[in-house]
Amino acid sequence: MAIQKPFFGGNWKLHHGPTRAREFAGAFAELYPARRDRTVVFFPPALSLAAFREARGTREDLRLGVQDVYWETEGAFTGAISADMARDAGAEFVLAGHSERRHVFGDSDADVARKVAAIADAALTPVLCVGETLDQREAREVEAIVRRQVEAGLEPLAASGVADVVIAYEPVWAIGTGRTASAEDAAEVHALIRDTLGGLIDAPDAGAVPLIYGGSVKPHNISELLAADQVDGVLVGGASLSAEDFAHICQSD
Ligand code: PGA
Repeated sequence: MAIQKPFFGGNWKLHHGPTRAREFAGAFAELYPARRDRTVVFFPPALSLAAFREARGTREDLRLGVQDVYWETEGAFTGAISADMARDAGAEFVLAGHSERRHVFGDSDADVARKVAAIADAALTPVLCVGETLDQREAREVEAIVRRQVEAGLEPLAASGVADVVIAYEPVWAIGTGRTASAEDAAEVHALIRDTLGGLIDAPDAGAVPLIYGGSVKPHNISELLAADQVDGVLVGGASLSAEDFAHICQSD
């Protein structure tokens, strides 16, 4: 299915098991009528995917992804899930390189690249997450860090694969902190990502890749962020845990 901009992703992280996911899908479907002019994707814990999928019923506009995969397709890798399994369970998207994977679980740029390759090989859409820490921002390293993470993460993909990703700019200092990047800061880094993509693929394709912002997106700041130049959508953590708040966000322009 095509990706229509704006793109709204709800990253539940380690919240909402199957019972809660089922209730949530029912409540959200009532609050948010299907729309053709945008894309809405939920990233529940993998264990809750089936419950969400069942409860959404015919509402296939409420699309699904997983928060992480391992790069191997199968084998003796206790605790891991593969991209093929995620697709089999109904996922179309996979987050790769979320800052919590990088900083809590130690995923390196090389690990993220292997995951991106595995996700694309499984015919799923990678949502590559990049972003600087506060120290890096204060040291004026934003450009170097973001360019490096984008180039390293997409390195294994051919041009056609690069044209088929979503990139999330999520400054680490804004995630779960209540501090949001200003619309100007978001626009500046998104322009930088667009420029980096322009070095990898043709300009029209680089222009079409959805670039989304994440980091303390809430009902009160969504419109300002969506209005920022080059911001094609958002990746929402905390506020996606409430059906009311996330339905409000997904209906914003
Ligand atoms: P937050 O999380 O909205 O709670 O800041 C965003 C994310 O980690 O994707």
